[in-house]
Amino acid sequence: MNLHLTEEQKAVRDAARDFAQNVLKPGVIERDNAQRFPADEVRELGALGFMGMMVDPQYGGSGMDTVSYVLAMEEISKVDASTSVCMSVNNSLVCYGLQEYGTEEQKQKFLKPLASGEKIGAFCLSEPEAGSDATSQRTTAVDMGDHYLLNGTKNWITNGNSASTYLVIAQTDAEKGHRGINALIVERDMPGFQLGAKEDKLGIRGSDTHTLMFQDVKVPKANRIGEDGFGFKFAMKTLSGGRIGIAAQALGIASGALELSLAYSQERKAFGKEIHKHQAISFKLADMATQVEAARLLCLKAAVLKDAGENYDLASSMAKLYASEVAMTQTVEAVQIHGGYGFVKEYHVERLMRDAKITQIYEGTSEVQKIVISRAVLAD
Ligand code: CAA
Repeated sequence: MNLHLTEEQKAVRDAARDFAQNVLKPGVIERDNAQRFPADEVRELGALGFMGMMVDPQYGGSGMDTVSYVLAMEEISKVDASTSVCMSVNNSLVCYGLQEYGTEEQKQKFLKPLASGEKIGAFCLSEPEAGSDATSQRTTAVDMGDHYLLNGTKNWITNGNSASTYLVIAQTDAEKGHRGINALIVERDMPGFQLGAKEDKLGIRGSDTHTLMFQDVKVPKANRIGEDGFGFKFAMKTLSGGRIGIAAQALGIASGALELSLAYSQERKAFGKEIHKHQAISFKLADMATQVEAARLLCLKAAVLKDAGENYDLASSMAKLYASEVAMTQTVEAVQIHGGYGFVKEYHVERLMRDAKITQIYEGTSEVQKIVISRAVLAD
């Protein structure tokens, strides 16, 4: 694996860093407190080409590689994971899914405005009783000839309110199990679509997570992605790439905590010297830096495999599992290094600690990643 970034990749990373530090950082505490979606900031991300990073320019995207996506996700997530989850879902679940498996008509109609940042997308798989066990879909899409009749409820949907295009996974033929599931493109203005309650969350409080209800929504057959029954595989394939995005988000949260801890430990004095001169702190920083670097390498490996057109299912699950564990443990350490200051909002690390937790849960819990990893290594 080539560990040297190209000039283009470095430029993407620097642009993302500038945006995060100059545009996202000033309002991040206020948005977290108010649970306010970063609507203006996401529009600016779209103008920078960061909402459809890997989409072909002919469909409104930036035509960048997955390595660049990882670099940008890390920089944005160092500062604001609420913004980066919106970016990640739009890029790697919605845009990627449409680019890879959509028809030409679907790409022209739905992908273009999503990739250019004009619209935002959401990915609707989870249900009240189908989280990790994603085959147990209760939402139904009954085949009515020229359309599907969609009924059901989806939970914990990222971009629930800000989106206008939804990729909805639903059961058409229960007897066929996961082979009877379809993925449908649902538009917000379709009659029967209903926005449910907004979640009041521990972390990523600026992102808008909602319940969605579908009552007799008529979805044209032209809005089905892939062949009849392809919906579950579509979800699995799309989530595999999505896990690279969330791994990079977790990496960013951890590396943000490291950067803040390095700076603080060189300013703060205790017992007559800067606290980094105490081994109790310098050893924590050494562990943090090593684990962040290992997480970064796993993220980049998954991205490189994806860019090379090779199978990345195992690599993306490993990256997500490890990076999210590092994010959780190392943000707790960052709060400890900051002492009392770490426990108050002004110093940012308490938010990073709260935001880290979701990376062990969404797009497949740590336990789901261990299922994928153990099956792969046992099959070798
Ligand atoms: N690519 C292609 N096909 C795949 C696949 C992949 N990566 N993974 C599985 N499949 C296929 C299998 O080959 C199998 O097909 P066949 O029977 O034709 O061979 C079919 O899918 C079923 O696979 P499994 O038997 O492995 O399914 P399972 O029931 O044992 O479940 C699981 C496996 C890994 C636990 C899976 O259900 C899973 O990933 N669950 C977690 C779902 C998840 O990540 N939810 C997150 C919600 S989205 C979200 O969080 C977005 C957000 O808002 C931030």
